Amino acid sequence: MTTELVKRPDVQALLDRVAGLDQAGGDARLKPILRDLVEAIFSILDKHDISESEFWGAVKYLTEGAPELGLIVPGIGIEHFLDILLDERDKAAGIAAGGTPRTIEGPLYVAGAPVSEGAATMTDREEDGERLVMHGVVRDLDGNPVPGALVDVWHADTRGFYSHFDPTDQQPPFNFRRRIQTGDDGAYRFNTIMPSGYAVPPDGAADRLMKALGRHGKRPAHIHFFVTAPGFRHLTTQINIADDPLIHDDFAFATRDGLIPEVTRAGGTAEIVFDFALLPEAAGAAYAFSERPRTAA
Ligand SMILES: [Fe+2]
Repeated sequence: MTTELVKRPDVQALLDRVAGLDQAGGDARLKPILRDLVEAIFSILDKHDISESEFWGAVKYLTEGAPELGLIVPGIGIEHFLDILLDERDKAAGIAAGGTPRTIEGPLYVAGAPVSEGAATMTDREEDGERLVMHGVVRDLDGNPVPGALVDVWHADTRGFYSHFDPTDQQPPFNFRRRIQTGDDGAYRFNTIMPSGYAVPPDGAADRLMKALGRHGKRPAHIHFFVTAPGFRHLTTQINIADDPLIHDDFAFATRDGLIPEVTRAGGTAEIVFDFALLPEAAGAAYAFSERPRTAA
């Protein structure tokens, strides 16, 4: 959608110089990407007749909103689009289908949660809320259990706050964050409290953007996972709590078919059974765990 003005030879020459195309040094991968990015910005400025004040307002928004980029990126669908893109690259590379679908990580993972064998209790203290037990088996694509898999789980509390990011500072370190190592049966199990959905911080940059778009900044209740095992591809995913009213109205677009297990309730405890299916490590493919910045504690 390059506009006629941006196609003009003097503007195209400007873009070449901006991207350092007339220079021998620099990063050969970055140059054409930066050129396309700036060309897209030029064209948007032209196409939408953007005023100087609007432009500098956008710069101010990005400058001040930078700490919330981890929420803005999923909120404008980019993190979900990365999943769509990776799925398509898998298809193009002939990578086997049938594994548990990937979905977005979000910005609230903390590395280094306590590890236990086979089962875990997600909190060290008495927590109010609906009791939840979730369990299942980590399997390969043939359905065989995967021993030695690590199920790294994290979720919000009943107020929708995550430990280490709790604005009320009321949770101990690693509350509702655990890693469970599977034994020979590939099984994992954890006891916890039903998490709540949550919203982006009120009046923050993500919230203001959502309001300006006529949208909300809420997520349905969900539980995050990394599942890893030697010889298998790293899986980043979430399961959604099936009866949350926002399940198909997630501001971060993370809900996917295959990630909405049934919740059964008996004797005051909710139960979710969910097996993970891991893809084999694809030789020669760049499917390592992404290198995004993460908190460690
Ligand atoms: Fe989350």
